[in-house]
Amino acid sequence: MRRREILGAVLLLPLESLAQTCGVITPRQTEGPFFKTDSPLRTSLIETGSKGPRLVVAGTVLSPQCKPVPNALLDFWHADEAGEYDNRGFRYRGHQHADAQGRFRLETIVPAEYPGRARHIHVKIQAPGKRVLTTQLYFPGDSGNRRDGLYRPELEMKKGKEEASFDFVVEA
Ligand SMILES: [Fe+2]
Repeated sequence: MRRREILGAVLLLPLESLAQTCGVITPRQTEGPFFKTDSPLRTSLIETGSKGPRLVVAGTVLSPQCKPVPNALLDFWHADEAGEYDNRGFRYRGHQHADAQGRFRLETIVPAEYPGRARHIHVKIQAPGKRVLTTQLYFPGDSGNRRDGLYRPELEMKKGKEEASFDFVVEA
């Protein structure tokens, strides 16, 4: 094609295809057998008797256009120090809302591994009025990652000095 024809073709593209998309939607993963509804509203899952190493995960919930999603719902649950889920109560389960800038911060412990799985944290994220996205977060450098068929590198948290981080991209 000559230069002029190429320019013409570009100008004929529908406007939507030029709209900026900057974030890939976070991959979905199974919720597994241990999700429970009605988790308590709390940003810290640490309780009296919590023994595992402390963990802070912070980040932002973003739209596919990379705009913060204010007030997004985040519902976390994970295994305890022994690799067990609390199916009677709500130990290591809790939900919170992102702030006006889409930021969240979770304080908890590093869950223990349990047979067949790499260390992971389950989470459901939902922009107000939109579809729930269920996924799992993994620990960078964890030896179990390679042996776990569900593990995906895109779902690894980033290790910072004081805290781990992860930014979610959801329908918004
Ligand atoms: Fe799990």
